[in-house]
Amino acid sequence: MTKAEAKVPVAILVPGHFNDHAIGRIDKAFQRLRIERADPSLVTEEMRRSVRGIASFGGISAAMIDALPNLEIIANFGVGYDSVDANHAARRGVMVTNTPDVLTEEVADTTIGLLINTVREMYAAEKWLRDGDWVKKGNYPLSRLTLRGRRIGIFGMGRIGLAVAHRLEAFGLPIAYHNRRKVEGLSYEYHATLRGLAEAVDTLICIAPGGAATEKAINAEILSALGANGVFVNIGRGSTVDEAALATALENGTIAAAGLDVFADEPNVPQALLDAPNTSLLPHVGSASDHTRRAMADLCVDNLVSWFGERRPLTPVPETINVKPRA
Ligand code: NAP
Ligand code: 8YV
Repeated sequence: MTKAEAKVPVAILVPGHFNDHAIGRIDKAFQRLRIERADPSLVTEEMRRSVRGIASFGGISAAMIDALPNLEIIANFGVGYDSVDANHAARRGVMVTNTPDVLTEEVADTTIGLLINTVREMYAAEKWLRDGDWVKKGNYPLSRLTLRGRRIGIFGMGRIGLAVAHRLEAFGLPIAYHNRRKVEGLSYEYHATLRGLAEAVDTLICIAPGGAATEKAINAEILSALGANGVFVNIGRGSTVDEAALATALENGTIAAAGLDVFADEPNVPQALLDAPNTSLLPHVGSASDHTRRAMADLCVDNLVSWFGERRPLTPVPETINVKPRA
């Protein structure tokens, strides 16, 4: 335990289910208050009075922030913080932190696994073996799709996008990307629009953040631009996809296949995507190893310890970079 951890008797609210390692560390350094979910109607008078921090997996709304007048910091467990109203937090002088970098390589590994599974049907081939079909019916059918000759487009060339690109470069595949801004010094082909990127490639990997700016950015027009040999992989956020348009595109052959780790209304997955034979679906496991979740838990709690001990955040999100600790 650090000196800072030892001296801070601060109340931290933890909504719903949380990471065990993070809970262990919060319990050593703070007073942990539990709440079933981050719902302002469940906030008690004691919480109103005492809560100075939130450690959270999921959404923290403006109303939740307003329900806690002494709140100073929201430590988000995850690099994506689209479900936290960070702009409102900034207006209220509340710091928001996230967990960048420590999960980058794990999520990039998962992305590659999901891409290969989508293209080469690993899950279906293994099921064929386990179901006894190799013995009963012979060899698993040749996969319709291959990674060979593919052109990769990355929507969101940030920390994780770059780690995915580095891996795919080693696969011998050309890489292009779309961000709002060109990344200085990066030699991959840049496209100023998502449509331009989709037209230029046949394999589109989304690792852009969720939120209003990317809401349903992957729509019928983008999928049509990707084309009939197109493969779409989403490891970013489900909100970035028009899931109805994606299901239609998979059904009518507008694109060939999709690999999805994230969905708009998790844990609910649209039936049309579950039924489609050309989807590979994962339950949001991009960062979900013991190793990486522990590192995320440490960074999440380290932000609380640093805020209440040293009065500074370790990894603030851009919206709250100028929030100062209260006197
Ligand atoms: P990051 O370093 O901030 O990268 C995000 C990239 O997206 C940036 O290059 C940014 O460039 C681009 N971008 C942002 N808004 C955009 C927009 N409106 N249009 C086009 N490009 C845009 O973040 P990261 O660490 O790589 O994480 C990326 C996201 O991955 C997270 O936000 C999270 O949603 C998701 N994620 C998912 C899992 C999982 O388990 N499936 C795990 C970790 C992260 P510009 O600012 O130049 O546009
Ligand atoms: C986590 C993620 O599964 O970091 C992110 O943005 O999506 C994942 O690593 C999620 O944040 C857990 O709440």
